[in-house]
Amino acid sequence: MSANSESSHTGFLAAPKLSIGVKSNAPRKSRRSPTADPAKSSAGIIETEQKYCAPNYLPLPVTLVRGKGVYLWDQDDKRYLDMMSAYSAVSHGHCNPRLVAALTRQAEQLTIVSRAFHTDKLAPFAEKLCALTGFDKMLPMNTGAEAVETAIKAARHWGYKKKHIPGGLAEIIVAEGNFHGRTTTIVGFSSEVEYRAGFGPFTPGFKLVPFGDANAFRGAITPSTCAILVEPIQGESGIRIPPEGWLREVRAICDENNVLLILDEIQTGLGRTGEMFCFEHEGIRPDGLILGKALGGGMMPVSAFLADDEIMELFQPGSHGSTFGGNPLAAAVALEALQILLDDDLVANSHRLGAYMLSRLQKFRTPLITDLRGRGLFIGIEFDPEMVSAREVCERLMTRGVLSKETHKTVVRFAPPLVIEQDQIDQALETFSEVLAEIAADRSVTFTVES
Ligand SMILES: Cc1ncc(COP(=O)(O)O)c(C=O)c1O
Repeated sequence: MSANSESSHTGFLAAPKLSIGVKSNAPRKSRRSPTADPAKSSAGIIETEQKYCAPNYLPLPVTLVRGKGVYLWDQDDKRYLDMMSAYSAVSHGHCNPRLVAALTRQAEQLTIVSRAFHTDKLAPFAEKLCALTGFDKMLPMNTGAEAVETAIKAARHWGYKKKHIPGGLAEIIVAEGNFHGRTTTIVGFSSEVEYRAGFGPFTPGFKLVPFGDANAFRGAITPSTCAILVEPIQGESGIRIPPEGWLREVRAICDENNVLLILDEIQTGLGRTGEMFCFEHEGIRPDGLILGKALGGGMMPVSAFLADDEIMELFQPGSHGSTFGGNPLAAAVALEALQILLDDDLVANSHRLGAYMLSRLQKFRTPLITDLRGRGLFIGIEFDPEMVSAREVCERLMTRGVLSKETHKTVVRFAPPLVIEQDQIDQALETFSEVLAEIAADRSVTFTVES
């Protein structure tokens, strides 16, 4: 992925330098003069980061210093429209004032005590999240990968204790193209060579089948299958949307075979796809749900695994845990983040503006683009790699004040904060068409927008 799949690139500054004329939609001019001290300049900061940080990312060459709503600013005070929102973690907009207030209020009160003790913040957060999702219980963690690991443990536990799978044999079926995080267990069942290469040996007990192919899922089930674990839309794989009805069929396959359906909605959940949860598009309910990213309001890493008592009551004191999971600072922020989603109707905004953005993008005509996929404010544009890399498109967008990030080499993702407004989408699309026009001219191909 992106955050995630940088390893195919050769180095931090491998991208060619760009010199693009800035047109009418250029970002606001800098109010400050560019930084004079070379060590504090963008190039200086990037050099220091490269010197001291392991090169497991390939960031775009921009150094951000502040954010507000859908905008970010670099240290020369150049403004950027954020069309990526930290891989969907900043759905509430940068430095959302209600979240800043909740964070600072709680930071002055109580931050971390571990779950060796009760606090007054975890209970209301857990109650709210269970009410919102309809599950009996939640288990709080921090990062997405930790919540996925929790789901895997819960599914195996259920498989042994309730389905009576012989010890050590429980299997989980996963989809090709999956992205569930970066722990060794999780990358062990990735189909991406670059996520796995050099990190084995891996945990056994996972079976990969093609995403979107219900028959393949049915065929992979054995008496030892305890769960199917999938993303309802594969985000890092390039916003890959399965055929309509697939998830419903997978639900039925699970029911027929006494297998748990566990959905990783770390990226798609909490309004990103135009429903509170992506599974609502198919009118089904999973047995286990994994949330993260936007749950922390773009302020804190907060994740959770949710399920009903039959699964959750199998956890015993000592069987699982995290020093930071469910801490009062995170719980206070997450509780407020959930309340903002509801108060500000961000799910409806994602639905309405996602449809608007997709319909405008559908009018773009150019051989540069080979596919367009989206649901809610979760949109992927696939480029022909023979003509242009998604990285180049993102670099050109950045130069013109719009931030996005390629996923794999061919897909540009637009997943802005859900607080975005229509004129800001228009601004992003205007810049995107300028960039496409420019690349089309360079490559001597056409680019038009149908009226
Ligand atoms: C669907 C999905 N699952 C899991 C993860 C991992 O989350 P984290 O990076 O917080 O560990 C991601 C991150 O992009 C994701 O998109």
